[in-house]
Amino acid sequence: MRAVRLHAIGGPQNLQIDELDVEQPRESDVLVRVRAAALNRRDVFITQGLYPKIALPVTLGSDGAGEIVALGSVFAGLAVGDEVVIDPMLAWGDDPRVWDAAHSSILGMPREGTFAQYVAVPAENVYPKPTQLSMEEAAAIPLAGLTGYRAVVTRGELRAGETVLITGVGGGVQTFVLLFAKRLGARVIVTSSTQEKLERAQALGADLAIDYKATPDWHKSLRSETIDLVVDSSGGDTLRKALDVIRPGGRIVVYGGTTGEATIRLFPLFWKHVSVLGTSMGSPEDFAGMLEFFDDGLRPVVDRVFPLDDAVGAFEYLASANQFGKVVLGVE
Ligand SMILES: NC(=O)c1ccc[n+]([C@@H]2O[C@H](COP(=O)([O-])OP(=O)(O)OC[C@H]3O[C@@H](n4cnc5c(N)ncnc54)[C@H](OP(=O)(O)O)[C@@H]3O)[C@@H](O)[C@H]2O)c1
Repeated sequence: MRAVRLHAIGGPQNLQIDELDVEQPRESDVLVRVRAAALNRRDVFITQGLYPKIALPVTLGSDGAGEIVALGSVFAGLAVGDEVVIDPMLAWGDDPRVWDAAHSSILGMPREGTFAQYVAVPAENVYPKPTQLSMEEAAAIPLAGLTGYRAVVTRGELRAGETVLITGVGGGVQTFVLLFAKRLGARVIVTSSTQEKLERAQALGADLAIDYKATPDWHKSLRSETIDLVVDSSGGDTLRKALDVIRPGGRIVVYGGTTGEATIRLFPLFWKHVSVLGTSMGSPEDFAGMLEFFDDGLRPVVDRVFPLDDAVGAFEYLASANQFGKVVLGVE
């Protein structure tokens, strides 16, 4: 099979297409013929060495959709030919509040990932592909949809009628946060770096859209708003601004720090009784709940589809931050 493998740290140019034997599924695994996979910022960070415990060489890729071609043993409810989407959160553990840090991991380093024609994954990690979605759309969902769901539903507890601020809405996860927040009946304020991305967010239902690049003091214009929840992964000074605009008693959910560490003022944190909540990935319950959003016609935002053989081009495109939504690999 063909697989996109990282052999050395130093950026996406160190990826190469290798010819490998197809991995045979272990007893508790299924073998999936991958039809589409999707990129996450995590994949770029791994090529750059910005991730803990990198083990090389490795086939990258956390997100994938395809059909089952072999089963390790007999599993109730699964059969060869089933179209599935893969949950990349491996061995979350028994506690729905937090993953089992000692045993859990994410598909696509250290375990061989989805940027290949075949991937073997634990049977408990495959779910029926939402029938109305294409393979490319289904592959766009897993990691970002799971993270976004847990951020906005499980941790953020967003309710109909509340207002949520989504910072950097062009990101793969944040576009899911936008979709889910609108489905939940929330009022949505977004920030982004370009006018085009702001317009796309508005087309998806954003009620107010602000350019954080053109207006560095964007938070000042939001002081008259009653913001119940902020969802952020940009880091840097965004958390400070979020603390400035969050309503007393509000929640701030953080799942990443793309632009670096944050320094915050403590006074608004304690004086406003703000809850700052960290989150990462999600439990199997989160994954199942997240997929239900796609039962009634909701579609993920797919920005571009690249062929597997042009994975380097796809990585460079994601690294350029020009995308709105998910960057997908079609796997022939
Ligand atoms: N903890 C977890 O489980 C988990 C899971 C997934 C992702 N993450 C992390 O979350 C982050 C986003 O991941 P992703 O895959 O969604 O990445 P992505 O698709 O590459 O999106 C990154 C986004 O960050 C936004 N951004 C950059 N600078 C910003 C700024 N100064 N202010 C506000 N927004 C800014 C941009 O938004 P605009 O395009 O709108 O400008 C950009 O699109 C990464 O750091 C990733 O490692 C964590």
